[in-house]
Amino acid sequence: MKSLTLSSPLDMHLHLRAGSLCETASAVAGTQFAGAVVMPNLVPAIETLPAMDAYAQKITAAAGTAFRPLMTLFLNTQSASDIEEAKANPHFFAMKLYPAGVTTNSENGISNFDAIVPALEAMQALDVPLLIHGESNGFVLEREAEFLPVYRQLAKAFPRLKIVMEHISDARTLALLDEFENLYATVTLHHLLFTLDDLAGGKLNPHLFCKPIVKLPRDREAIRAAVFGGNAKIMFGSDSAPHPRSNKESAAALGGCFTGPVLLPALADLFDRHGALDKLQAFVSDNARRIYHLDVPQKNLTLVNEPSDVPAAFDLPSGEQVIPLFAGTRLPWRIV
Ligand code: NCD
Ligand code: ZN
Repeated sequence: MKSLTLSSPLDMHLHLRAGSLCETASAVAGTQFAGAVVMPNLVPAIETLPAMDAYAQKITAAAGTAFRPLMTLFLNTQSASDIEEAKANPHFFAMKLYPAGVTTNSENGISNFDAIVPALEAMQALDVPLLIHGESNGFVLEREAEFLPVYRQLAKAFPRLKIVMEHISDARTLALLDEFENLYATVTLHHLLFTLDDLAGGKLNPHLFCKPIVKLPRDREAIRAAVFGGNAKIMFGSDSAPHPRSNKESAAALGGCFTGPVLLPALADLFDRHGALDKLQAFVSDNARRIYHLDVPQKNLTLVNEPSDVPAAFDLPSGEQVIPLFAGTRLPWRIV
């Protein structure tokens, strides 16, 4: 039987939501990860330190103290001194930039990039990372490339700012990692696993609908080659983003896959099938720790090549359900 012990796995892009969904999503994260970068796209968005502190406390109450929430603020109107103040807050990790309207709860995101220059300058000076949801509004395949010039411009204008392209999904964006030293990326489980055919090639599966949308086989192959080849600038960020079942199984389905419950077993299986188990520790922890000089709780997770069953649904106190990836199926790996 194969087995693998991961040291302090980290999820560098996670949606923990509000209300009872937050309790479920945080508890799930706490059983697998030593820490996670928590996205601020709640309603209202997390833009201030008091809101961020309260959110961190709620997460810790559900996930336990052996889980470190690395908190982000929604970049909007913050000044240079706001950034300085944030940097001094022990929960704070990074600023998240949502170009206006790109994804769920980003309607109030940035449309005038000049307005955020003072914040970006302060971030560069203080070594505060900039995480970017890099995708233009809509997700028609050609239009996604519109965001490439924005990455290029920011990377050139702020050469010492760490800029992270969040959940990259296509080969062209991936290629930017080699062009700019200060560009990094996160990659999800679902973009390593799926293509458009899985989402909509047969029967439409709204549980695989996310932003950025899963792409073509050649995109998935390029991202797999980079990740399984051990690219040191790529970090795991699940983008697990639960929505109540009624918002997913809908004629107006929301983007977001609830991959949280299966992340480490599914990653172990995928890396194993591609002969890349020896690359998993760097992908789920070491790359991020090195890039950010991160100090995270020590937590060892052992996985074995034995079957585990995925629940068909998670029940919320409201009576709603959330449906995880691989709901009701059996995975070949489990956490010991
Ligand atoms: C995310 C969400 O639901 O918050 N949705 C998604 O499709 N990934 C938003 C995001 O990741 O930016
Ligand atoms: Zn996300």
